[in-house]
Amino acid sequence: MKPVKTIPKTITTYWQESTLFRYTSYVIAFCLSALLVVIPAAFSQQPVELSFIMLAPETPFFEPLIREFEEQNPDIRLTMVEGPNAANLVEDLNTSAYLLGSSPYDLINLDVVWTSKFAAAGWLMDLSDRFPPEAREPFLEGDIEGSIYNGKLYRVPWRTDAGLLYYRQDLLDQVGAQPPETFTELVDTAKQVQQAGAADWGYLWQGRQYEGAAAMFVEVLQGFGGYWINPDTLEVGLDQPEAIEAASFLVSTIQERVSPPGTTTYIEEDVRRLFQSGNAVFMRNWPYALPLLNEDGSPVQGNVGTRPMVSQPGVDGGGCLGGWGWGISTTTQHPEEAWRVVEFFTSPEVQKRFALEAGFLPSIRSLYQDAELLAQYPYYTDLFEVVQNVVPRPLTAQYAQASDILQRYLSAAFSGRTGAEDALQAAARETRALLESGRPADAQETNEPEAVG
Ligand code: GLC
Repeated sequence: MKPVKTIPKTITTYWQESTLFRYTSYVIAFCLSALLVVIPAAFSQQPVELSFIMLAPETPFFEPLIREFEEQNPDIRLTMVEGPNAANLVEDLNTSAYLLGSSPYDLINLDVVWTSKFAAAGWLMDLSDRFPPEAREPFLEGDIEGSIYNGKLYRVPWRTDAGLLYYRQDLLDQVGAQPPETFTELVDTAKQVQQAGAADWGYLWQGRQYEGAAAMFVEVLQGFGGYWINPDTLEVGLDQPEAIEAASFLVSTIQERVSPPGTTTYIEEDVRRLFQSGNAVFMRNWPYALPLLNEDGSPVQGNVGTRPMVSQPGVDGGGCLGGWGWGISTTTQHPEEAWRVVEFFTSPEVQKRFALEAGFLPSIRSLYQDAELLAQYPYYTDLFEVVQNVVPRPLTAQYAQASDILQRYLSAAFSGRTGAEDALQAAARETRALLESGRPADAQETNEPEAVG
């Protein structure tokens, strides 16, 4: 008890008797108050942090650009989260983040087929005023259409995509064949090359149960003259004879060993690596593969040609429209800073660098006439035709579910679990039920987890 009582007495006594003690106390009190003012001010000047998820293969190309952006914008720090390889798995990650409450991501790198669902769910800021019609004019039409939902624009494209048919010119020369025009020619030539012992495999394509298979199927469907969902009437065409023929064609390539049995597990990179190893004559893939196939040390360097996907005689074929663009999350606290990021990553200069360094196709039309790009990619002149003649996947808010249905039934047909006709009839029934349920974007459901067919 005693010491407790004596302490205040001692301090008071010191305060009264010692000038040095009094002045020291004033100085300490002043310093503490100053710190209380200075520390929060220092924190308020911390850079704003913005985060986003990217497809794994894209991250190496973004790293130097992120550093460059941060040097030019010291008030912003960017956190890039590396996602999986498959586009729909990245979509699932973004979707789950929103379904958990508030997404931690400020920006979203959106596949062209996510726009409607994300916009309908209220997850994307309306960018129509920031990116008005005159600013959209230099961009490819399909990329802009794929960025609009209910008349409002929600994403700014930074790269386009269009499926292509790749062929090995040297192997065609060996058997005296031309690049095919039709599905029949494709298979006949593939078999010729295989029979000549020039390559083990005829045709490589993406057959895993994932979004890439839906994109690949859209091209074959188009080539057979069929359709998935009519955008005007919402009629479903999957059980029409053309669609069944399209699926049967793909199944037959596996059954006849023109395509490897592993096709049912392949995504883009599996197919690209196998083609690059030199053991196949045809491949369906996106344009990103071409610079890789032609890189130094590639066994197929200089021997690869591309053309639009083949079709039935008299039917207009076309590559599937793919591509990516930037949207801003409605959950961000920093829309102004996020918009500066969007402007940077979608600018002509950055799109050109992505094209030169990563082989991604620009979504700005004039870049297809850029001298430096043409010097590196002389085929840009032909590609410009291809990217203007693309087939979109259905632009509906229920796209993720419609695609999920198609993927499941295609996978069952590709792996031989169900006949192509039965599979597509079931897919058509489920798709009709989905569309007839009339539910707007069902943000409550995500794609099923990836299942390897
Ligand atoms: C590419 C396309 C994208 C598509 C995806 C499927 O990334 O750009 O639109 O959905 O491949 O795997």
